[in-house]
Order: sequence, then C-alpha cells, then structure tokens
Amino acid sequence: MQSETRKKLLKLFAEANGEFISGQKISDQLGCSRTAVWKHIEDLRQEGFEVEAVRRLGYRLKSAPDKVTGNEIQLGLKTKRLGWNVYYEESVPSTQKIAHKLAHDGAEEGTLVIAEEQTAGRGRLDRSWHSPKGTGIWMSLILRPAIPPQQAPQLTLLAAVAVSQGIQEVTGLVPDIKWPNDILLNGKKAVGILTELQADPDQVHAVIVGIGINVNQTREHFPSELASTATSLALEAGKPVNRAQLVQMILSKFETLYDQYLQHGFSPIKLLWEGYAVTIGKEVVARTLSGTVSGVALGITDTGTLKLRTKDGDIHYIYSADIEI
Ligand code: BTN
Repeated sequence: MQSETRKKLLKLFAEANGEFISGQKISDQLGCSRTAVWKHIEDLRQEGFEVEAVRRLGYRLKSAPDKVTGNEIQLGLKTKRLGWNVYYEESVPSTQKIAHKLAHDGAEEGTLVIAEEQTAGRGRLDRSWHSPKGTGIWMSLILRPAIPPQQAPQLTLLAAVAVSQGIQEVTGLVPDIKWPNDILLNGKKAVGILTELQADPDQVHAVIVGIGINVNQTREHFPSELASTATSLALEAGKPVNRAQLVQMILSKFETLYDQYLQHGFSPIKLLWEGYAVTIGKEVVARTLSGTVSGVALGITDTGTLKLRTKDGDIHYIYSADIEI
C-alpha cells in the first residue's frame, strides 16, 4: 500500500501538470527532508516514472509508465474514498481472492486490488477469465455499504454503469450493457463484472466488485474460443487506451454513483442502467441453473432482477442467468 507521503507527492506532481516544483516546496508540503524527497523520487524512477531534476528549478514529472500500480492510479485521482488504498501485484492468481482476504481482515471501503496479470482469473458461473499481462484492467474493489444482502445485485448494475460511463468518457465509445453486467462493444464482450459478498443473513459486511476489462489486447491476444465473442477497447477505438487513466475515471464515476445510491437508493441508478441496456424490449433466452426460459425482457425490478414475459404470457423473474439476445 502507498505511504501518505507518497500520495501527497503524487498529488503535487498531478497539480503541477508537468511543470517544475522546487525541492524546497516538495519537502515543505510533504513535511520531510530534501534527502527523503530525493529517495521518493528515486523510488518512482525505479518504477518507470521519468522525473527530470534540474538545479534551482527542482523536479518535473515527464512521463509515467504504462502500468497500473498505486502510484499511477493515484497520480491525478479525483476521488475522495475510492482507490486511495491500492494493493498492487505484477501477477496474482485472482485479485478477487486477495480482496476477499483483505476485506475479511478489515480493509477499509474503497480499497482496490489490481494486478497486471491474473493466472487464475474467475468469471461468473464458475468460468475462468482470461487476463493476460499488461493488456487489461483486472481489479477488485472493496465496498462496505450498510444494506441487506438481497440488495447487493443492485451494486453489480451500478458497477456496470460506472464502467460504461468511464469507458465512454475516456474512449468516446458507447458501450451496451447486457443484463446483468456484461459490457459489449459492437456486440462483443469487452468487460465482465463479478460481484461477491461477505454477509450475514440480514447485513452485508463487504461487497467485492471484480471488474475485468479487455483494454489493449490485439486479436492475437484472444484464445480461439474467445475470438468471435470478445473484443478490447483498443480494437474498437482503433488506438491504445491508457489503463491507469481509465481506472481513475471509473473510480470517479463509481464514487459519484455510489454516493447517489447511498443517499437516494437504486432508482436513479436503474434509470442510467436502462439507458445503456440492450437487453430490454428484446426477445432473449435466459439459461439459468434450473433450466432455460425464452421470452421478451420487460425490464428490471427495483432489486435488479430481470423480468421476462414468455410466449404464453407468463412472467418470470430471473436472478442469475446467461442471456442470449
Ligand atoms: C464475468 O464472468 O463476466 C465476470 C468476469 C470478472 C473478471 C474479474 S477480473 C478481476 C476480478 N478477479 C477475478 O478473478 N475475476 C474478476
């Protein structure tokens, strides 16, 4: 995790916007010696940050590496709570598993677990999630909302809206959401979200929102079984996308929506979700664990459940399924 001093230094560099900051100013603001400042700068350089040092002018941040470490994410991060505790690793089996452990041990709301690569990434319905090194965003966010467990699916939909807004803002692409939480670009999946709970029957202790985003993969990165169904933001936008910047934007959107949700409930989020939804009004096939139901998707309920009307006019409420449009 980042030290408070490191976070302050990153804020200073972000505010300076590529201009020089004097060593004295940094040491005053950080409340540490000039030698300690130099040590922090050296650590950043080790991580691939390009920091120019000029006598009498001070330090200037010229570039950041294309990584998703806590330093990159916090450089220019605009949130109040989300993303200020980052647990980063180059390679992990699954960020979800680490987030569960941290949440269990008392990690605060907003803690983010993120890695360059997952060797055993998990998807919904016990599937695996392909997470090749340095190409995507593989992250798990810990939340601690005071809600009963039945309401937790609402946060999955909230996450899908936050990620869609973030993608739209950073890339200009307009995503579609397929219930409950697949994000599609031109009909192909670019994002998957896995929401898991630590809860008693009447109270949530932690929600772990796992988000996997295919960002800079080329066609060759996808294994043959995903080739026709998956895509990446770079493939759709026709240019690479800065991952750290996208994480920052998603965290900002997430925080705004989450605060709205905690204050006003699910209704405002539901409206936004419906704005991105491709499922609603369409003939769909829902494959659930207990069987398959076909019908028209009428909408989602206030708890985030999908409402289907079959040919016979029967209404079905779908809690968890794979949807084919
Ligand atoms: C899906 O099946 O669509 C959900 C995929 C969720 C993948 C993300 S990547 C980060 C986090 N860690 C995991 O192992 N899974 C989630």
